[in-house]
Amino acid sequence: MTDRGPGAPVRVALLGCGTVGGEIVRLLSEQAGDLAARVGAPVELVGVAVRRPHRHPELPEGLVTTDAATLVGRPDVDVVIEVIGGIEPARTLLLEALKAGKSVVTANKALLAEDGAALAEAADASGADLYYEASVAGAIPLLRPLRESLVGDRITRVAGIVNGTTNFILSSMASSGAGYADALEEATRLGYAEADPSADVDGYDAASKAAILASLAFHTRVTAADVHCEGIRNVSAADIAAADGLDCTIKLLAICERLEDGGDGESVSARVYPAMIPKTHPLASVDGAFNAVFVEADAAGQLMFYGQGAGGAPTASAVLGDLVAAARNIVVGGRGPRESTYARLPVRAIGAVCTRYHVSLEVADRAGVLAAVASAFAEHDVSIAAVRQYGGGRNGKAGRSGAVRLVVVTHAAPDAALASTVEALGDLDAVRGVEGVLRVEDLGRSVSALGVTG
Ligand code: HSE
Repeated sequence: MTDRGPGAPVRVALLGCGTVGGEIVRLLSEQAGDLAARVGAPVELVGVAVRRPHRHPELPEGLVTTDAATLVGRPDVDVVIEVIGGIEPARTLLLEALKAGKSVVTANKALLAEDGAALAEAADASGADLYYEASVAGAIPLLRPLRESLVGDRITRVAGIVNGTTNFILSSMASSGAGYADALEEATRLGYAEADPSADVDGYDAASKAAILASLAFHTRVTAADVHCEGIRNVSAADIAAADGLDCTIKLLAICERLEDGGDGESVSARVYPAMIPKTHPLASVDGAFNAVFVEADAAGQLMFYGQGAGGAPTASAVLGDLVAAARNIVVGGRGPRESTYARLPVRAIGAVCTRYHVSLEVADRAGVLAAVASAFAEHDVSIAAVRQYGGGRNGKAGRSGAVRLVVVTHAAPDAALASTVEALGDLDAVRGVEGVLRVEDLGRSVSALGVTG
């Protein structure tokens, strides 16, 4: 970091100039006057590291380099902004910057979720700032509220939709009746899904975000490896229709909860999976590529954050907010909030996490089947809340094979107990197939549409 005289500019190096980086360059130029007034000194972009300079004729001459390490090491750089993503070379570059006392602003959720501890320790060692608002839910101010506004409260749950691609796909399936493959194809054609959609559709992107949210909310280091993660590839049009029939919709949820373990003991759960939620819940009406997150805290009650979770300009907005915060600290000689992991709560394994389930079975239509199915649930201590049968009986529509569909909705039960129940159901003669198992999340509200309360 440079020795500062009064009015000296805050010098910024940008690593990466894709969709987000390009918007950062534009906003830094277009809003230079306002940014200087808000920071108390000019904010000057001194270099942009890219892999293919010929693809960036729009960048001012002299700023572009392919040598990110040398740019980061320049003694006149005060702040390093990283929007290249991935673990390496981002980790090495940011650690070098922090060790040298340069503030870092990053949107890199994968790196933060895998090795945020190393970045935080390097920042603490040198007294540099580490800001990462853009890493979760794009433009939505969420991490600063958790880190600062709500730091005097006791947060009990952070849950929501933090991946726009999967929300677009699920919304499209719900509105058109399309299957997963067709909805994914549409998302790819419209530019919402990447050519390799795995990070989004398999839930990894949301899991990284859940790790970051849980760490901040519960003052506990939670990594991506601690987050139970299931994606949306197996969500079928039949699942969507079943949810609709119960006045529910299916969303890919990231859920971070503080759980009571009895006595004074507490643990945290961080998990990502598709789940049915009642249509009456505000998250159910979050459609398309939008994100929305519910935060619940003892004193504040329920808060909802909603907006654009991805895209160049929205993500750049979050980056610029962090840049102004870091630059102000440099100008006045202060420091932003440090990492807080003092609570060190254990992370509860998914098998011990309780939720409700919607289990769809194809069963033989004959006497005693319901009793056998109910016994399988009872033997594993999973309490049934509601049962519906579709087809069958004298006036029913049992297929030629005499099979009908049975839907069982349970009360809250541990994940491991439900998994054992499903295995036992599969072994029953009367069960032709377990067609679908979906979690039902009421997120603090009663699932009245399913006839389930409490
Ligand atoms: N790919 C993410 C999404 C945005 O679809 O929401 C970046 O995290």
